[in-house]
Amino acid sequence: MIIAWEERMDHSKEIAAAKEHFGKILTEQLERIDRLKSEGDFVDYARKEHIVIGVVGGDGIGPFITREAQKVLEYLLADDIKSGRIEIKAIDGLTIENRAACMQAIPDDVLVELKKCDVILKGPTTTPREGDQWPNIESANVAMRKALDLFANVRPVSIPDQGIDWTFYRENTEGGYAVGSQGVHIDDDLAIDFVVATQQGSERIIRAAFDYAQKSGKKKVTVVTKANVIKTTDGKFLDTAKAVAKDYPDVEWDDWYIDIMTAKLVDEKRRQQFKVVVLPNLYGDIITDEAAELQGGVGTAGSANIGKHYAMFEAIHGSAPRMVDEGRAQYADPSSIIKAAGMLLDHIGYHEASQKLTKAIEVCSEYEKKLVLTGRPDGATGDAYAQYVMDTLSRDDLNEIYAFYAK
Ligand code: IPM
Ligand code: MG
Repeated sequence: MIIAWEERMDHSKEIAAAKEHFGKILTEQLERIDRLKSEGDFVDYARKEHIVIGVVGGDGIGPFITREAQKVLEYLLADDIKSGRIEIKAIDGLTIENRAACMQAIPDDVLVELKKCDVILKGPTTTPREGDQWPNIESANVAMRKALDLFANVRPVSIPDQGIDWTFYRENTEGGYAVGSQGVHIDDDLAIDFVVATQQGSERIIRAAFDYAQKSGKKKVTVVTKANVIKTTDGKFLDTAKAVAKDYPDVEWDDWYIDIMTAKLVDEKRRQQFKVVVLPNLYGDIITDEAAELQGGVGTAGSANIGKHYAMFEAIHGSAPRMVDEGRAQYADPSSIIKAAGMLLDHIGYHEASQKLTKAIEVCSEYEKKLVLTGRPDGATGDAYAQYVMDTLSRDDLNEIYAFYAK
């Protein structure tokens, strides 16, 4: 059959459907902005009598490494767990099997439980993608960050002997991720995704980065975008940064495009000058993997997802299902999630315990290295590593040992 040219070109039905879909996205985002406008301030944990830490094992090696981090938390918080100020609670059901069965990124009953916690320690969760064995539901990470409004993804990377001390502030709820699973296949030929930047969303992450730069004494913020090409959303991010910077006259700032920034992170002459880096979601995702790799691998970095009412702490790596399939899960490196547990302690006001943990991890993983993790039976188990960290924490001379190595 010969189709008339006019008929072949008629996409009015698809266009109408796409417009309707776009309209729904706009309504959702405008409603979201209303909520952002009325959000309160950050919770002050120091004033709370009771703090609930939810522990989510996740998928693959998640339950194995999370168990080790939980032991370290229980060790450091023993007194306050006994007194009842701290409660550690296991949250089940955030597994790919259950998520696929419910066809939800976070099953409703799990979300109810998560919302009863103040802070969450979370193992990696499998992110389905088109064509694999799971239904292509949204990533549990992305969904949790949105559901609990965890807008600041804070990822520190430090390589002391190279003078590197970076803290990345990745925007965590907008950009290409906000409606990343709501793009449209207009027809077989045309696929469209959406990128979201709001004034409120850009401002709060940029302010968080400048606040941190000021309070930590680092006093230098680098804003990363691709505003020369992605003019509207990245342009808004950069313009917002220009305006916010005026409120921090004693914090120096500069801006870089993501492509050259990616190169400069491996420029040994330049990279020490970066301190606090703030950037939209996707660039932050990519560059924090690069930075973690420079530090010793993605398994070595912790990650905090901070909102005004909740916060979630996780490893930056994935669930490594292959390690489980090959029977090696007990050899998985728990240091990333133990670092995340350290960030959790700091966030809820246990600064001293957190600093002690940072020192102990550095002594164990960087200096003394009495145990080495290889991910295989020729290396230590995660359980032995956690024990090594706790033994190191219990040493009276931890400060001296640390000072000896870190000089
Ligand atoms: C991360 C991860 C996630 C992300 C994935 C699992 C959705 O890569 O935390 O960086 O892209 O944010
Ligand atoms: Mg990532």
